[in-house]
Amino acid sequence: MEVIIQPTKEAAAMLVSRILAKEIQAKPQLVLGLATGRTMEAVYGLLAQMYRVGQLDFSQCKSFNLDEYVGLAPTDPHSYRYYMNEQLFSHVNIDLANTYLPNGAAENLDAECELYEENIRKRGGIDLQLLGIGRSGHIGFNEPLSALLSRTRVKPLTPTTIEQNSGLFERPEHMPRRAITMGVGTILDARRCILLATGAEKADIIAKAVEGPITSMISATALQLHRRCTVIVDEAAAAKLQGTDYYRWVFANEPEWQEFQ
Ligand code: GLP
Repeated sequence: MEVIIQPTKEAAAMLVSRILAKEIQAKPQLVLGLATGRTMEAVYGLLAQMYRVGQLDFSQCKSFNLDEYVGLAPTDPHSYRYYMNEQLFSHVNIDLANTYLPNGAAENLDAECELYEENIRKRGGIDLQLLGIGRSGHIGFNEPLSALLSRTRVKPLTPTTIEQNSGLFERPEHMPRRAITMGVGTILDARRCILLATGAEKADIIAKAVEGPITSMISATALQLHRRCTVIVDEAAAAKLQGTDYYRWVFANEPEWQEFQ
């Protein structure tokens, strides 16, 4: 794992979008793993801007989102399908037929989860998985006690997550209590993972996720097992990390990061 600390949340989002852009330019058929949440909005805004000025071409990309609420139709403004269309897909030239999210309104949810895994496999697996982190330490909706080898399945949401996300619903009680999410094992299969976290409210959970012991109580700790995971944070989210001198030195000195200074 590597940790990169950027001065502001804007700079952190910019770095993530530049890494994504570089990967898409190197492999136009990239299979992207995408995430939702407020943190990602800045990244999608920057990617859309790069597309507008001709720096990026999504025409051959495929994408798989991490999760979707159970019970919400894709047309529901609170669904993650709606979020993705609004934040990214409608602003770039990705073929909507190549954008996958679990269908939270499927009649047979188990079959939907299996189909999702099969589609990821058929497309050759995820090249680059973008991740946020919830205050409960979840990646996707892998709530505490998610098996570290779990695959796409339905997961009941914790009170912390419900509290964190229900603010996005006009009537908080309308927020679904369950979601379909890629499993921790599904995420770990991605060839590269990039986790973005910004703001002081993420400082505690980032310290636990990066420097704490691996535990199914905090699914983000499983990223410590991943071969190529980069955690990008702003100063506020980095505030409780212990090893920041070392992380800063690596970013400033390792050849891989020179072009991103
Ligand atoms: C939701 C998503 C997560 C995301 C989290 C963070 O719970 N399921 O994938 O990481 O939100 O949200 P925010 O960026 O709004 O803090």
